[in-house]
Amino acid sequence: MAASPLIALPIEQLRRRSSTKWRTYADDVLPLFVAESDFELAPAITRVLAQAVASGDTGYTPPRHAYQETFAAFHERRFGVAVDPARVRTTGDVVMGLVEILRGVIEPGDGVVITPPVYPPFFDTVTEAGGTVSAVPLLASATGWSLDLDGIEAAFRQGARAMLLCNPHNPTGTVHSRETLAALASLAAQYGAWIVSDEIHAPLVRPGVTYTPFLSASDEAAARGFTVTSASKAYNLAGLKTAAMVTAAAEPAKILSALPMEVEWRTGLFGVLAGIAAYSEESDAWLDSLLVALEQNRQIVADGVSTISGAAHLVPDAGYLAWINMADAGIDRDPSRYLLHRAKVALNSGPTFGAEGEGYVRMNFATSPEILREAFTRIAAAL
Ligand SMILES: Cc1ncc(COP(=O)(O)O)c(C=O)c1O
Repeated sequence: MAASPLIALPIEQLRRRSSTKWRTYADDVLPLFVAESDFELAPAITRVLAQAVASGDTGYTPPRHAYQETFAAFHERRFGVAVDPARVRTTGDVVMGLVEILRGVIEPGDGVVITPPVYPPFFDTVTEAGGTVSAVPLLASATGWSLDLDGIEAAFRQGARAMLLCNPHNPTGTVHSRETLAALASLAAQYGAWIVSDEIHAPLVRPGVTYTPFLSASDEAAARGFTVTSASKAYNLAGLKTAAMVTAAAEPAKILSALPMEVEWRTGLFGVLAGIAAYSEESDAWLDSLLVALEQNRQIVADGVSTISGAAHLVPDAGYLAWINMADAGIDRDPSRYLLHRAKVALNSGPTFGAEGEGYVRMNFATSPEILREAFTRIAAAL
């Protein structure tokens, strides 16, 4: 039987939340910016966290826990990919994992490829790790975005030692094909570069779209790659601070085990407990219902964008973020500013994703159909 859509919480309840999404702007603003979602937690997560609070189970994360096995079983079930639990290490969050792995594979000053428009913290992630940003923008076409493999090869040839891959890609929602990922891995093997793949949006790939975890794309991908991911986007657990760092071959596994023990000690115990509950089979039905809700919301966003003169977007293949081109809407290079003040809708500013984001806004649609429709009504009125 097809899952029914998960129902988002009503706005009165959401406004009582204390997280960034609900505390940054005044109550007259609809917050559709930072990637938090507006649903009730999966019941298994609520249960395990309530038990932990009730028993004061708020200490340090132990060195061994069921997270690795549960994570591996989830990958097998949802993506058909085997993960060796012994090759999964945890840390505080995805960005922390990206920084620490980069530190492990580059020398200070080395180039690190990123592919804008891209999740804005990637720029600082590279510099925090001691690297230099080597931007190779995605190639844009009428039907979507793709990696510029020639551009990436040129960057590797000029000395870039690593690349931060976003798979699926934030903000475009692009799911890279196995062929593209395998070709990227071949380049990495040829030039001795490392690919660090951020797969935080992977559980939110649209039904019917084939997703390939980078490490499973080819033997070369396993040999040259690291994956960093978390249950935090799909299950809204960002505040609990747990992410997984994964390898699938001996050399990267050695680099991962050589990271300082402190990297693992930053793992949040609540994140581990909630992550185990999220990745367990019991939460699959909840995730399926979320995917149905997001699919409905994709249509609402598409309909909403079509009512705004000068706006255009392509339906994302993964995640709950819509990358909307408003360059022809007659506002300015950063339409989010105008829309915040005039429409009272908070969206992410396109230019923060790189120069390629000028004229764009990013809209978070992990919310109720009512809030989304209200946002488009306000935007249309403000224009
Ligand atoms: C691609 C990507 N990576 C990382 C993050 C942040 O993850 P974390 O809070 O685990 O660092 C986000 C948040 O939206 C994201 O979209």
